[in-house]
Amino acid sequence: MPEPEVINVTVNGQRLSVPAGTVAASAVARAGLVGFRAPVRGGPARGPLCGMGICFECRIMINGQPQVRSCQVICREGMELRTDDLANA
Ligand code: FES
Repeated sequence: MPEPEVINVTVNGQRLSVPAGTVAASAVARAGLVGFRAPVRGGPARGPLCGMGICFECRIMINGQPQVRSCQVICREGMELRTDDLANA
């Protein structure tokens, strides 16, 4: 069975259609969000930096699992992506 060309995910509860093969970090960016998580000691919100799994700045909750490096996850149909609430306050 061929893969669908477009899949649907939610980003902070909002439905978003993305091309199949989209990385979760890209889906969050497509939703218009730049803040993925709030830093522990204050300061500006954090977001993807390296895009290759090294910096850990892109961590979000994916399907209820916290602290997932979103640059390392390919979106799947129905996937739920959630950034830190404080990152985009
Ligand atoms: S952007 Fe660096 S680990 Fe994801």
